[in-house]
Amino acid sequence: MLKAIEIFQDVEEEDVEFLRELEKAGERYKWIPDDRLDDISDLPEQDIEYRLDRLNKFEIVERGVDKYSGYRILPPGYDLLALKNLVRRDVLKAFGRALGIGKEADTYEALTPKEDRVAVKFNRLGLSFKDLKKKRSYDPDKEWFDASKKSARKEFNGLKEVYPKVEVPEPIAFDRHTLVTGLIEGRELSEVEDIDLPEPVLDEILRNVRVAYNIGVIHGDLSEHNVIIKPNGETLIIDWPQWEETTHPESEKLLRRDVENILKFFRRKFGIERDIEETLGEIKGGD
Ligand SMILES: Nc1ncnc2c1ncn2[C@@H]1O[C@H](COP(=O)(O)OP(=O)(O)O)[C@@H](O)[C@H]1O
Ligand SMILES: [Mg+2]
Repeated sequence: MLKAIEIFQDVEEEDVEFLRELEKAGERYKWIPDDRLDDISDLPEQDIEYRLDRLNKFEIVERGVDKYSGYRILPPGYDLLALKNLVRRDVLKAFGRALGIGKEADTYEALTPKEDRVAVKFNRLGLSFKDLKKKRSYDPDKEWFDASKKSARKEFNGLKEVYPKVEVPEPIAFDRHTLVTGLIEGRELSEVEDIDLPEPVLDEILRNVRVAYNIGVIHGDLSEHNVIIKPNGETLIIDWPQWEETTHPESEKLLRRDVENILKFFRRKFGIERDIEETLGEIKGGD
C-alpha cells in the first residue's frame, strides 16, 4: 500500500502543518538547515523537535549531513501533503487498490465524497523504482518533485482542453504532483489478448486523434499502453502530460509518431495495413 495511506490516520493535524512549513522552506533549501528550523515555524523549540521526531518515525522526512546538517521531505511526505489537501478540498474521501505502478507514476483507485470512483495518479518523474527501494538515493534531489508537479498541472490542463469531446478520463483536480481523474473500467490495449473487431477499434482511436487535432491538441505519447479498452469495446486515451498544441514547431513530428505507434500495433497484432500518409491526411483534413 502507499506509505502516505498507511500513516494517513496516525498523522496529527499539527504534523501536517509542520510538514507544510518544511515544504515551504524547502523551496529555498535543498536541505533545510537545523539552524533555520526556528525561523520557518512559530512553534517553540521543543515542539519543533517533537514534530520532527514524529515525521522521522513516519519516514516522511529524512535527515542528511552534507555540507551542513538538515532535513528534507521524502516522496511519501509529498504524497501525504497532496492527499490531505485533496481530502480537505472534498475531492477524495477513501482510498482503494493500486491500478498501475509504473515507471513514472503510481496510480490508485479512490472514492469521492459522492462515492464516485476516481483514479489518483502520483507522478514520480525521475524517481526510478531502484531509488524508491533505497530511500537514501532520491536523486537528483527535489528535481523529481518540481518536474512531477509540472507534469500533473500540464496533464490536467490538457485534459481540460479535450474533455469531453475526446474520449478521455474526466479531469477532476490536481494538487502538487498528484492528478485525480474519473476512473475507467478496462484494460490497457497492449494487454488484451484479442479483440473481436479490431478495425472499428482502430478507427475509433484515430477518430479521437482527429478530434483532438481539431481542438488544437496532440497527445505526444500515444501508444497501445495509453489506450484503455472497456469491456464493451469502447476506447479511451489516457496519460496526457506530454501533449502539445498543434502550433508547436514539433507538432507534425509528434502527430506522426503518435499515429505510427498505433498503426504499428494494429499491423503487428491484427495484420491491419493502413497507409500512414493517408491516415495523417484524414486526421488533418478537418471534421
Ligand atoms: N483514469 C484511469 N482509470 C483507470 N485506470 C487508469 C486511469 N489512469 C491511469 N490508469 C492506470 O494506470 C496506468 C498508468 O497510468 P498512466 O496515466 O498511463 O501513467 P504512466 O504510464 O505515466 O505510469 C495506466 O496504464 C492504467 O492502467
Ligand atoms: Mg502510460
